[in-house]
Amino acid sequence: MASPEHGVNAILRGVRVIDPLGRLDAAGQDVWIDGGKILAIYHHIEAAGVPIVDLTPTEGADPCVLCPGFIDLHTHLRQPGDEAAETLESGSRAAAAGGFTHVVAMANPSPPIDPPERVAEARLAASNLPVSILQVAALTRGLDGAELVDIRRCVEAGAVALGDDGRNGVSPRQLAIALAETAHLSRAVFVHPEDEEMIAQANATQGPVTRSQIRPAESETRAVNLAIRALSHARSGHLHLQHLSSEGSVASLRRARQQGLTVSAEVTPHHLSMWLPMAEEPDPQSLRKVNPPLRAERDRNALVRALRDGVIEAVATDHAPHRAAEKSTAYEDAAPGMIGLETALAACITIGGMGGEWLAALVERLTVGPHRILGPASGVPEPRLRIGESATCTLFDPNTEWVVGATPLQSLSRNTPLLGATLRGTVLLTLAGGRVIHQNPARVPIASELVTNA
Ligand code: DOR
Repeated sequence: MASPEHGVNAILRGVRVIDPLGRLDAAGQDVWIDGGKILAIYHHIEAAGVPIVDLTPTEGADPCVLCPGFIDLHTHLRQPGDEAAETLESGSRAAAAGGFTHVVAMANPSPPIDPPERVAEARLAASNLPVSILQVAALTRGLDGAELVDIRRCVEAGAVALGDDGRNGVSPRQLAIALAETAHLSRAVFVHPEDEEMIAQANATQGPVTRSQIRPAESETRAVNLAIRALSHARSGHLHLQHLSSEGSVASLRRARQQGLTVSAEVTPHHLSMWLPMAEEPDPQSLRKVNPPLRAERDRNALVRALRDGVIEAVATDHAPHRAAEKSTAYEDAAPGMIGLETALAACITIGGMGGEWLAALVERLTVGPHRILGPASGVPEPRLRIGESATCTLFDPNTEWVVGATPLQSLSRNTPLLGATLRGTVLLTLAGGRVIHQNPARVPIASELVTNA
């Protein structure tokens, strides 16, 4: 039966096409999208009656880039539990505005995604949104580290990975068991590497450590080393290290990869671009409170180097929306985390060391890198620009400046130290399955036309 579908009809003129898996990086291209499908990519296309969006750069300027849609391995959505901070819908709009077509939701809403039924519920609640929201299942019940979830059933219910992000209470022994089990299911275990005992000691606290202020770099490196050791003991499995923040952790990751262990890692735009002491403290200061914390410039340099040379395979936002009330308290009481979906690209380009000659590597780390970490069994389609297939892609201008927050952000939360900052790099258009999910109408004035799919 014929089903109506909105699809784009336009020629995007004069863009740089970066398709890492297709081994294509070519400037001066015209891209013809017809009924939402990529019909042709060629150096010059004329087609009567097809609207042309002329993006040809002025002399000496960098061209706009068309690439596969970004995949975020690390997004916190607050539905259920705290819908005033972020819903699936608002988070999905924020993702599309940032150029993301797929986001991986962490397991720590309230209640957490720990039984298989909740994985299925979360997937159902996230269907029919502009962006594909993929779900991580908790690794342990209640994220408290004591008891592993029913891993097999969580995967059968659709979990793309397992992990307790926000917490790291699981013992190395249990982690090794989980790694061995997930190996059979072709899923990675995502680990938030911060040693909770060390943090509790440093803060002289006994309770949960999520809001604790003192978080030494050694607590991360120790957790990284313990997780890598668990991986060696498991003799199988894929360990994915989330939001690395320190030089020591990068060194451990390098060693483990040289030994041939199946370990991957991600870095956030904020750890790539900010360090302490910051020249200007945000107001309130707690806007820069995040787990793991921003560290020293040498840590940041080690992260940028590792992302450039591919030892860190993915940029992941750790988008962590919080209501204003959670950030306007004293620093030590404030919730950790910052929003990041809408600023990720621009932060990486402007202050994260990934602009200019590193742009193609950045695209790779926002698309192919995350896809490789999820693996083919996750069902996430390969990030490609294929002729004849519907377009799931992002168009961005690496030059245009914008002021963060000057036009309202799509996220329901505003907790980022970048509010008011001028960044370079604007997402002009995001397409998912050939449909417009985000558009800058001034720069890309195309209409999504009604076409009929026979
Ligand atoms: O700063 C953080 N906030 N780090 C995390 O790992 C969790 C996140 C959150 O859920 O707010």
